[in-house]
Amino acid sequence: MPKSSCPTLFFTLALACAQLTWAAEPMHFFARPANGLARTPPMGWNSWNHFGCNVSASLIERQTDAMVASGMKAAGYRYVIIDDCWQVRRDANGNIVADPKRFPEGIKAVADYVHARGLKFGIYSDAGDQTCQGRPGSRGHEYQDALHYAHWGVDYLKYDWCNTGGLDPRTAYATMSDALRASGRPIVFSLCDWGVKKPWRWGARAGGNLWRTTPDIWDAWSGRHGFSLGVLDILDRQVGLAAHAGPGHWNDPDMLEVGNGGMSNAQYRAQFSLWAILAAPLIAGNDLTHMTAATRTILTNREVIAVDQDPLGIEGHRALEDGDAEIWVKPLAGGSEAVVLLNRGTRPLSIRLDWAQLGLPGYLPLHFRDLWRHKGLPVATHHLAFEVPPTSVVMLRETPARPRASP
Ligand code: GLA
Repeated sequence: MPKSSCPTLFFTLALACAQLTWAAEPMHFFARPANGLARTPPMGWNSWNHFGCNVSASLIERQTDAMVASGMKAAGYRYVIIDDCWQVRRDANGNIVADPKRFPEGIKAVADYVHARGLKFGIYSDAGDQTCQGRPGSRGHEYQDALHYAHWGVDYLKYDWCNTGGLDPRTAYATMSDALRASGRPIVFSLCDWGVKKPWRWGARAGGNLWRTTPDIWDAWSGRHGFSLGVLDILDRQVGLAAHAGPGHWNDPDMLEVGNGGMSNAQYRAQFSLWAILAAPLIAGNDLTHMTAATRTILTNREVIAVDQDPLGIEGHRALEDGDAEIWVKPLAGGSEAVVLLNRGTRPLSIRLDWAQLGLPGYLPLHFRDLWRHKGLPVATHHLAFEVPPTSVVMLRETPARPRASP
């Protein structure tokens, strides 16, 4: 290449780079300070997956009671979240109005009920003119709405992305996060643009504590149902996102379907295990007042929850992909690792776990604990094989076996 073309090339590259940066970031988009919340992935319950628009004060109060009575509160669940459809209109001053038939004493009374049981209260709005169900959105009312939320005692806001024509998600989400901060109340901020604008790249800087990475979940093992995706299809879209998650800012592959009836208990154990290894928010979406013992056992498995809530806050990654066999690994505090062996298919599989997939030398003696059977396994080296039934997982926690201290 003649020397004289170098400056031209440099200039062209610099311009392209500047244009890319320009396209990726709106002008004056600056990082919002972290709000210090959600140091581990939020845990709770949300009305949408099971009840859709059929929300009311009495429903929320019954679910709150069930969260306590079922042992879910003791297992770490905190947020009781009303999704879409609690709001009906704005009054003459632009104040948001809750459905007077379904919430006769207003939203604050529901929040008080939840707080009185030692839990936290969450609500839903949308960055656009209307929510996804055609209720009033917060566009142009961000500060007004945030003040209402703070006055009501809201601890968590899920903020959707329907009817947002002309808005840039980074500035729209940052505006609401500014409004929440200005309200003076600590409020976890959950972004929901369905992963469309790659929110893992900017969600934390826009003030988000979590951001949806995909379209809505569907209560099915795999496949697409309109806009919604089954568990495996959502899982596949998490590959490569781990580096963007950490304490205070999480990738959100959408809520749990455990107990909603579309999958087997083995498949629900798989969703719960995979969400835990992804350090995903654990937001139950079933009817907590009518749970089978199996559903309750899944949702309250403390050994699996401990993986999700591990203080290091490292999201797990896929360490093996071999046909229907996958291995997912998540480093944990104290030198342990969590492992999920996933059989995606409909035939039983033997899945071999090699220490190399754990990033460890084969000679290292490892102790494994089965987190669903609640049993330790004999110390092993190099590799271990596990029988994994169809469409299910084996979930393990590995710890290097400690030699006895010499006298
Ligand atoms: C969107 C969201 C869902 C739910 C509905 C409510 O589809 O992704 O999680 O909040 O809106 O209308």
